[in-house]
Amino acid sequence: MREQRKVTDSYWLRTAPGPSHPALDEDVDVDVAVVGAGIAGLSTAHELARAGRRVAVLEAGRVAAGVTGHTTAKVTAQHTLVYDRLRRTRGPEAARLYARSQSEAIGHAAALAAELGADCEWETRDAYTYVVDRSRVEEVRAEAEAAREAGLPAEFTTETGLPFEVAGAVRVAGQAQFHPLKYLRAVTADLLARGGLVYEGTRVTGLTEGDPCRLTTEAGATVTARDVVIATHYPVFDRALLFARLSPRRELVVAGPLGDCPDPRGTYITPDENTRSVRTAPYGPDGRRLLIVTGEHFTPGTGDPQAGFDRLAAWAEEHFPGATMEHAWATQDNSSTDTVPLVGLFHPGARHTYVAAGFGGWGMSSGVMSGLLLTALITGRECAWRELYDPRRLKPVVREAGSLLKTQAEVAGHFVGDRLKPAASVEDLAPGDGALVRSGGERLAVHRDGDGTLHALSARCTHLGCLVAFNKAECAWECPCHGSRFAVDGTVIQGPAVKPLERRKLD
Ligand code: FES
Repeated sequence: MREQRKVTDSYWLRTAPGPSHPALDEDVDVDVAVVGAGIAGLSTAHELARAGRRVAVLEAGRVAAGVTGHTTAKVTAQHTLVYDRLRRTRGPEAARLYARSQSEAIGHAAALAAELGADCEWETRDAYTYVVDRSRVEEVRAEAEAAREAGLPAEFTTETGLPFEVAGAVRVAGQAQFHPLKYLRAVTADLLARGGLVYEGTRVTGLTEGDPCRLTTEAGATVTARDVVIATHYPVFDRALLFARLSPRRELVVAGPLGDCPDPRGTYITPDENTRSVRTAPYGPDGRRLLIVTGEHFTPGTGDPQAGFDRLAAWAEEHFPGATMEHAWATQDNSSTDTVPLVGLFHPGARHTYVAAGFGGWGMSSGVMSGLLLTALITGRECAWRELYDPRRLKPVVREAGSLLKTQAEVAGHFVGDRLKPAASVEDLAPGDGALVRSGGERLAVHRDGDGTLHALSARCTHLGCLVAFNKAECAWECPCHGSRFAVDGTVIQGPAVKPLERRKLD
C-alpha cells in the first residue's frame, strides 16, 4: 500500500519559504493600515505604496501563508459559469464590467511580475469550463455566448487538452497561471523597498472607526491610520451584515508529478458535482510537470476530508494515467450570496474603512483587482466597476434574498442543531482524533494527541458561539457557521474569530 499523503503540505509554501517579518511591538501611525497579507491585502498595500501612501500590513500568521498559500493559483477571468449568471441577474453591462475588471487585473499582474523581474512561473494558458455530463452542454454553450458578449475571447468547443472526452467546454484564450508565493515574495520585497511596513504574528483584535481609525492588536500595540482595509478573507470585523452574505467552503487539493501523461496545457474546471479543477506547473529543472487537482468541497467542520482526499487522488490518477498524487492540502473559499466579490467601503456609514471578501475560489484575479479598486477608492480616483463590487449594494440584496435566507438557515441549523447532537465519550477517542464531549455542564472540544494526552477546549467558537467540529485529516477544529478554524491548542488558524478557544479542564 502506498505511503499516506501528508496533508497540509502546500507545494507553494514548501517551494518558496521566504523571509520572516517582525511582529508589531510599538504603536505606529500610517496613512493606510491593511489587515491581512494574502494576495488581496498585499496587492492593495503595494498599489497604495506606489501611489505614495505610507502603508502598514498586519498579518496574524505568516505572509501569504493562509488561503493564498493553499490556492491552485489560476489567474483567469473565466470563473466557471459566472457570465451567463451575471447577465441574467445583473444585466449585460455588469457582465462586461466583471470581464473588464478581471482582465485588467490579470494584465496588471503580468506587467508587474515582468517589471519586478519576479521569477514566478507565469504561464499564459487557455482557461476551460468543461462538462462531461451531456445534459449540461446547453449551460456551457450559454456561458460561451455570455462570456463573448462580455468581451472575452470565448468560444464553445468539444476539443480540450484533457486526456478524456468532454461533452462540451467554454474556452477563454490567453489566461494564465503562476506560482503565487514567488509572485507575492517579489511584491512584498518591492513594498518594503518603497517604505511599506509588513508585520507578521500580529493579530488585530479591535477596530475603532473615526478620523483617524485605530486598530488594536492582541499584543497591545495600536495602529493609527486614516484608512483601514480589512483583507482577512472572511472579514474579522463585521459592520454590514456581511456574515449573512458569505458562505465558507473548504476545498481539497492534491498534487503530484504528471509522469508520462501529456500536459493538458490549460486550466480547467467543471461545474459538475464536487468540482474537478485541473492545472499543471513546472516541477523541477528537467521539464517535468506537477499536476494539481482541486475538488471535493464541504462546509468546514462537516464531511469526511480524508475520504475526500482519497477520492480526489483516485480521480486524478485514473484520469491522468501515470500521475502520482504525493501532496495534499486544503483551501477555503467564501462565496457571496450573489457570487460577486464584496470590495469597497465596508458599510453604509463607512468613510475610511474598506473590505475585500467573497472571491468564491477566484482569489488570484479578484485579489489583484481588489488592490486596484481599493487604491482607486482611497486615492480618490474613479473606477468603472466600483458599483459592481460595492459591498453596500442594495438591490442585489433583494435579489439575493433566497440565498441569503438559505445561508442563514444553515447557520441557524448549526447553531441549534449541533447542540442537540449526542456527545462522544473520551474513552472512545483514538489517538489523533477529536470530538465534542460533555463535561462540567458544557460541551468541550477534546483532542487526543499521538501520545494519548487529552487536550480540552471550550467547544464554543469565539466568533458568534456556534459549536466547532474536528477535522481529523487536517487536525483542526472548524466552525461550520462562518468557517473559523482553530489549532488543537485553541489558537486561531483562520477567522473571522480573533480569539482562541478557551482552555478547559476535563472533569
Ligand atoms: Fe462564526 Fe464560528 S465562525 S460562529
